[in-house]
Amino acid sequence: MQAAHNVDKTSVQALPEQPRMMGNADVALILQILEKCPPDACLIEFGSWLGGVSRLLAEHGRLHVVDHFIWSDLNASAHPDLLAPGASFRPMFEVYLSAAGQAATVHECEFEAFEWTGGALDFCLIDGPRDLPTLWACLRQVQADLKPDSHLLIKHGLNPARLDLMCWVGRLLQDGVARLVQTGQPRWCNIAVLTPGPNWGDLPAYLQESAQGGALALVDDPWGGKGFALVQLARRLRDDRARAAFQGLAALPRNAAHIRDWDVMEHQLDLPAEVQMNTAIFAELLSFQNSQSDMKCARPVDQSLTWALRGFWATQSQRADGWSFEPNLLAQAFAAGDMALPALLGADCLGQDIVEIGRDLGMSGAGFLAAGAKSYTGFELGALGEGARDTAAGFASVSYHSALTPPQDMPPIDLILLRDVGADHSLVAPLLTRLAPKGANVPEIIHLEDGKLRAVRSQRTAHWKREKAR
Ligand SMILES: C[S@@+](CC[C@H](N)C(=O)[O-])C[C@H]1O[C@@H](n2cnc3c(N)ncnc32)[C@H](O)[C@@H]1O
Repeated sequence: MQAAHNVDKTSVQALPEQPRMMGNADVALILQILEKCPPDACLIEFGSWLGGVSRLLAEHGRLHVVDHFIWSDLNASAHPDLLAPGASFRPMFEVYLSAAGQAATVHECEFEAFEWTGGALDFCLIDGPRDLPTLWACLRQVQADLKPDSHLLIKHGLNPARLDLMCWVGRLLQDGVARLVQTGQPRWCNIAVLTPGPNWGDLPAYLQESAQGGALALVDDPWGGKGFALVQLARRLRDDRARAAFQGLAALPRNAAHIRDWDVMEHQLDLPAEVQMNTAIFAELLSFQNSQSDMKCARPVDQSLTWALRGFWATQSQRADGWSFEPNLLAQAFAAGDMALPALLGADCLGQDIVEIGRDLGMSGAGFLAAGAKSYTGFELGALGEGARDTAAGFASVSYHSALTPPQDMPPIDLILLRDVGADHSLVAPLLTRLAPKGANVPEIIHLEDGKLRAVRSQRTAHWKREKAR
């Protein structure tokens, strides 16, 4: 039983001057779509509130409205003099509509309890569901009665602040379940205007939890951008699926417009504090990836974390052979000074399979990837540290082994780094023999002492040969 409404407040004079929540841009868009409806159209509105929009719809045909007509706490705080929370505003709705000379069939119920038996619909406006299950409950009832030329308008369907709703609309469009109507609507108007697409018959399968996710929706948004893909990536960030968010970013076809679109969108997103660091890194890399015709990291990776991240992104993110991105590990490696050696070698690392042998190798695998190495294998003479283990777990092309127990299969090698250890060290010598057996292509060796190169490139091969000849 609903709370009794206040009868004194049911005069038109008591209502707000514009008894609607939608702004003028939304209303203009709705009127534009109503012009396309046939005469005596059948229309349905989910979420009529006080009737400011219903009145316009009713002018175009037989209108049905669905609402529970319960005055919410939010309504009461926005209009403190009108009704108490919990009161019914149906009388106000009816008074307003009849004063405007219009009428509607009222279905007073929860969206979830509504049943539609009225046949074909030309127009359906949904404004009320805040989440997908509620939106699906509305659609479940009417989807079979929307025809190829019917219009379905979903308020917040283009609103990045309602990530799930917008992602879902993108999915429908990407999969051909719905089509986006070209309306020329302004950017601040977030109503998605749809018509049934070729796969509309599949819609029931999309009205459930398991239908979320899926491939990146690369369909255009109403402004020609990739807003649907961007909200999908934002949702991955929100859900703490950073790895998937960064993979998606790398797959996004490059376009400078993404930078502006993300900038606008980011202000509307309400993301949890825990994901804000990844979100900031995401924004930085999105800008880096889309601002230059050819991504280049022009500074040594040990100079700033930004350059380390960019270095990684420029050299790893477009690899076809599998890669993963762990910004936290790159940050830790940077803070620990593990970018210094890779920066010292600079362009010599690019595309190289690197083997490093030494003590306290730390997280230099992360540093070498940032500097552009193809792979990194560390042979640790001391104890394998936590940083090394984390780095190996985080990056597909990094591995660490104890020099005491090298693996059966040796890694690919272009370059061997001996860090503060000689080739004749009792553990190193047999390792080198196994890494570069006689007759195999001899990899280049660089000796490093106290972070300085002791053998330059031109001398390396000769040095290696001398070592082998002894
Ligand atoms: C945002 S308002 C609609 C505003 C209206 N389109 C306008 O511009 O004036 C949402 C409406 O949906 C109704 N509503 C929200 N959730 C509902 C539910 N689960 N079942 C039925 N009605 C609901 C509310 O009572 C409210 O009238």
